[in-house]
Amino acid sequence: MSKVAVIMGSKSDLPVMQDAIDILKALNIDVYVDIVSAHRTPEKMFDFGMHAHTRGISVIIAGAGGAAHLPGMVASLSPLPVIGVPVKSSNSIDGWDSVLSILQMPGGVPVATVALNGAKNAGILAAQIIGASNQNVQDAIITYKEGLKTKVIESSKDLN
Ligand code: RP5
Repeated sequence: MSKVAVIMGSKSDLPVMQDAIDILKALNIDVYVDIVSAHRTPEKMFDFGMHAHTRGISVIIAGAGGAAHLPGMVASLSPLPVIGVPVKSSNSIDGWDSVLSILQMPGGVPVATVALNGAKNAGILAAQIIGASNQNVQDAIITYKEGLKTKVIESSKDLN
């Protein structure tokens, strides 16, 4: 079974990153969660980035705030797809610093960047990547999207 790693620069990112963990678990996908700081534990980041693909992980979701180097650095070390979540953290000026640090990667080292605090979409995107080669996961995504459609239709019923 494919596993998604959800890593973050600090435990203070967890309230945002929990959305990714929750949606992945709701879609029945195994999740590995860890705190890996690019600036405070660079050796751990190197070990994780170099070996994640040998440890049963298929997709990496990395969240960080402020000078958010974690997603890009992990993408530089790993052959796995990396999804970056910019976090509006206590040390972030206004969130743009986190967004641009993760978004503006140089050619050759992609990070699929979601919206500020957009961890839920990161989880869904990771599931969609796995679902491209796993029918059970793709079926779960189809059911999830049907649920979104139903919710909108239901919510418009009592308006008039
Ligand atoms: C980043 O600095 C972390 O990803 C976090 O978003 C931010 C603040 O970290 P703490 O000072 O709260 O540990 O590296």
